[in-house]
Amino acid sequence: EGNKLWGGRFTGAVDPLMEKFNASIHFDKRMWKADLQGSMAYVLALHKANLITAEEREDIYEGLLKVSHEWEAGTFEIKPGDEDVHTANERRLKELIGPVGGKLHTGRSRNDQVATDMRLWFVDKSRTLIKCITELVGVMIERAQVEIDQLMPGYTHLQRAQPIRWSHWLLSYAVMLQRDVDRLLEIRKRTSTLVLGSGALAGNPFNIDRELLKQELHMERISLNSLDAVSDRDFVAEFLFWASLLGVHLSRWAEDLILYTTKEFGFVTLSDAYSTGSSLMPQKKNSDSLELIRGRSGRLFGNCSGFMMTLKGIPSTYNKDLQEDKEAMFDTYDTVCSVLQIATGVLSTLKIHPDNMVKALSPDMLATDVAYYLVRKGLPFREAHGMAGLCVALAEKQNISVSQLSHKDFHSVSSLFEDDITKVWDYNTSVEQYTAAGGTSKSSVKYQIEQLKSWLESV
Ligand code: ARG
Repeated sequence: EGNKLWGGRFTGAVDPLMEKFNASIHFDKRMWKADLQGSMAYVLALHKANLITAEEREDIYEGLLKVSHEWEAGTFEIKPGDEDVHTANERRLKELIGPVGGKLHTGRSRNDQVATDMRLWFVDKSRTLIKCITELVGVMIERAQVEIDQLMPGYTHLQRAQPIRWSHWLLSYAVMLQRDVDRLLEIRKRTSTLVLGSGALAGNPFNIDRELLKQELHMERISLNSLDAVSDRDFVAEFLFWASLLGVHLSRWAEDLILYTTKEFGFVTLSDAYSTGSSLMPQKKNSDSLELIRGRSGRLFGNCSGFMMTLKGIPSTYNKDLQEDKEAMFDTYDTVCSVLQIATGVLSTLKIHPDNMVKALSPDMLATDVAYYLVRKGLPFREAHGMAGLCVALAEKQNISVSQLSHKDFHSVSSLFEDDITKVWDYNTSVEQYTAAGGTSKSSVKYQIEQLKSWLESV
């Protein structure tokens, strides 16, 4: 009981089950560094406010450094009664430097402390997240560059639609991930708000220099209202939604690839390193890595919606419900990191099957090009679309592909068709029409690669 930060007014012991129920040390200990960083900044501010002497400042600072070294070395010992990381660090500090350690918490509450720790932790980890994403984008760009000449069917409604470059498909996901990084940077900006100096809820009565705290903790701004500061978990909710959306992007990417690995498509083969077999069917090679990437996206959204439910009914300022923010944030972070790393491994070891991709292209996918042929001869697109449709129907009736229709057949649909209609039956020519920015022509795909590359260098 002696360890309790709040034991003063209590006489009875806490139910051991309640003690366990209340504790967060087993998951919030991973914020130990952020917690000590916040305390180190706070010591400086306490001294500036004349609440401790220069000597006390040095003693406390040195003590905090020692605690930090213990965590780093793995020798920090969590003791019964260490309710959370804040309690544990302060307990250890006082063991190391004696009662003067008790001055550290002057005017501070675990309420502004924990909110500070979470923000520091997130800002720091966002760098790792960005690194994981840019690594994956790097592989996408690399493949897009090397395999730029590879064509494949593009789909809408999962029906063969128009020929595209495989690179174009690859880069479509790179662009989604680029937006994810931009979004994360915006969230990080908002998270970079100093909340330390808000006390339990009413503020800090000792004229603590919050500008100094802001600088020491490399924050961008100072919170405006202490009641809001101790309870604001918008940044956690934003991060959880951010991760859900990233999860959706990767889930769709995985779903595409799962389809492409099937015998029905046969476009790609996963490396053995990212597949598993069946305990019963010897021939099976399953895309478990991709299925788990798809599956984990559900869990990411679960963390987001679960925490939103936690937040919605909480009255003003700090309530213990807020302790629930941590497991959601940590689990989301861990999940996103592993999903991104596996995705990078999958993509960099994937084999494509050029022949199958090309075999899956069929002349009916050039029906749009037949219409464009007529447009180029002056016909309004709506009419051209109808004529091309008639050609497709004619071919279907004869049980042949549209490219096998005779000149006479074409002529029977429109006199605008001439001998050069045969030029339409070339998939390469088809993709090369799409030169406008964002299209699937080689020049446009190259431009996308350039843009993404210079963006990668800038983040
Ligand atoms: N472990 C707590 C949390 O994670 C720290 C804040 C506790 N504050 C309090 N007033 N009980 O939210």
